[in-house]
Amino acid sequence: MQELIIAPSILSADFSRLDDEIIALEKSQANWIHIDVMDGVFVPSLSFGLPVIRSIRPLTTLPFDVHLMISNAEQYIEDYAQAGADSITIHCEAVQHLDRALQHIKDCGKKAGVALNPSTSIDFLPWVLDKLDLILIMTVNPGYAAQSYITSQQEKIRKVHSLLEQTGYKDKIMIQVDGGINNQTAILSRQAGANNLVAGSYVFSGDYAEKIKNLRVAL
Ligand code: DX5
Ligand code: ZN
Repeated sequence: MQELIIAPSILSADFSRLDDEIIALEKSQANWIHIDVMDGVFVPSLSFGLPVIRSIRPLTTLPFDVHLMISNAEQYIEDYAQAGADSITIHCEAVQHLDRALQHIKDCGKKAGVALNPSTSIDFLPWVLDKLDLILIMTVNPGYAAQSYITSQQEKIRKVHSLLEQTGYKDKIMIQVDGGINNQTAILSRQAGANNLVAGSYVFSGDYAEKIKNLRVAL
């Protein structure tokens, strides 16, 4: 069985004191730090990119889980790998040649993830399982923090979970959920088969360590 991963998203952190925020996460029971890169094209918002990742990399040993919500993500894989990403997740809707892009992430020595928007079908997944470490099922439409969890995605999580079981990839590929995760929706996602939870506004709206502990207890 895979370890349960909790990955706070620093999109909801206080950017004026990002160093303290990262140090606080380091002291909590967070497993990974989720880093949302948005380009204002693939998603409506702009967030931050390479310079910020490079500058926070020395502050923690926690793995950096980089979620690229950008068009032409394949062009930037090497840059994000060099900036300090440990895993790089690209949207299937934002790349021309998904198989090649995933192989590129692996060639850079990083964990490779593919993200699916809420309206995206899982039909393509069987053809790229051998190149994946993580499947990110978006439980909101990407672009903003603090949106509501889309419950229809539970069925998708269940379907991906059974696909991984049937194909023998259950212990090799994590199922990550991102969007609207709190101590209630964490349970729903976990019941459906997710083992990697991203949480932004929930974690950063109180005592981080306490909130992360709540998520663990919920599971
Ligand atoms: C949404 C981002 C998420 C976001 C999650 O586009 O990919 O990682 O920060 O924020 P919450 O947990 O507040 O929905
Ligand atoms: Zn994200």
